[in-house]
Amino acid sequence: MFGKRKQTTQIDQEQLQLIRKAQKRIRQKKRLYAHGISFVIVSCFLLVFNLLLKFGNSFQLVGLDWSVIIVLLWLILLTYHFASVFILNKFLDKDWESKQLETLVSAQKKRIEHLKSTLEKEDIHIAKSEIYNKQLMKTIPNLTIIVATAQANEIGKNNDLIWHLRNDLKRFKALTSGHCIIMGRKTFESFPKPLPNRLHIVITRQTDYKAPEGIIIVNTLEEAFTKIPKEENQPFIIGGGEIYKQAIPFAEKIELTKVHANFEADTFFPKFDMSPWKETHNEFHKKDDQHDYEFSFITLERK
Ligand SMILES: NC(=O)c1ccc[n+]([C@@H]2O[C@H](COP(=O)([O-])OP(=O)(O)OC[C@H]3O[C@@H](n4cnc5c(N)ncnc54)[C@H](OP(=O)(O)O)[C@@H]3O)[C@@H](O)[C@H]2O)c1
Repeated sequence: MFGKRKQTTQIDQEQLQLIRKAQKRIRQKKRLYAHGISFVIVSCFLLVFNLLLKFGNSFQLVGLDWSVIIVLLWLILLTYHFASVFILNKFLDKDWESKQLETLVSAQKKRIEHLKSTLEKEDIHIAKSEIYNKQLMKTIPNLTIIVATAQANEIGKNNDLIWHLRNDLKRFKALTSGHCIIMGRKTFESFPKPLPNRLHIVITRQTDYKAPEGIIIVNTLEEAFTKIPKEENQPFIIGGGEIYKQAIPFAEKIELTKVHANFEADTFFPKFDMSPWKETHNEFHKKDDQHDYEFSFITLERK
């Protein structure tokens, strides 16, 4: 009732496969051998009939006797058969297929491993830069971006502002006076002269940039942060486009004037992720005889 069951081991399976393969090869070679023999015998008969016994020797094609044409065509067929047994079968059998598959799979695996390690490295890099940004933000409390943008984030053209809104300029003056203002070299050059009652920090890559006395020149945004005086409680980033883009990760507040109109521009405020920000103030202003456009004063603060 509980007779011993024969176990099929891995070795049995492999041996079985080898035997099946050997049998298959033997069958293929036998068929080729039979094919070759039939070719020799039938060809001899045809040639004797046609060339020696002159049977149907009036039928010729392209100057060749019919028996010669048949023998030649058959020879081509036999050659193909020979090639398929000894060449094509060798390359295109199951073994060859599985070897190709293995090569492809291992190449894909290598690629996946490579991508994984690249992603890990990028993750580490992003995490490190986020930590770095957070640490840097702690050392510059209340860093505030102040900007006026139009509907499509336009901020300037030909290194100048595009609109004139009296109350916006007043607000800019009120907020920034007595504070430190950080700006790009182009924004600095867009002023007719330095703004009174504010410490200017100008960022440029030029190592020999000349500026009037009292203006601090730095070569990186990080260097600009190191020049903020200890007693400063609200340093401002005042533009332009290039500097806003680099400073957003470090800012805690954005004082935005949104102009409700569209303008031709060559400089824009960068698109940024709104999710870490909340709006804490929004004050709409209508057009009037001193303001050609509607605008809103908006304050965004980091959540
Ligand atoms: N609507 C607004 O509220 C507002 C506010 C400010 C400005 N704007 C407008 O914005 C435009 C100017 O903006 P912009 O983007 O063209 O120029 P920008 O940001 O004012 O200045 C760009 C320059 O800053 C320097 N710079 C930038 N990144 C640097 C880095 N990482 N390290 C060292 N130096 C760096 C380079 O100076 P070098 O070429 O000397 O190396 C660069 O050419 C003007 O049209 C202006 O009127 C509008």
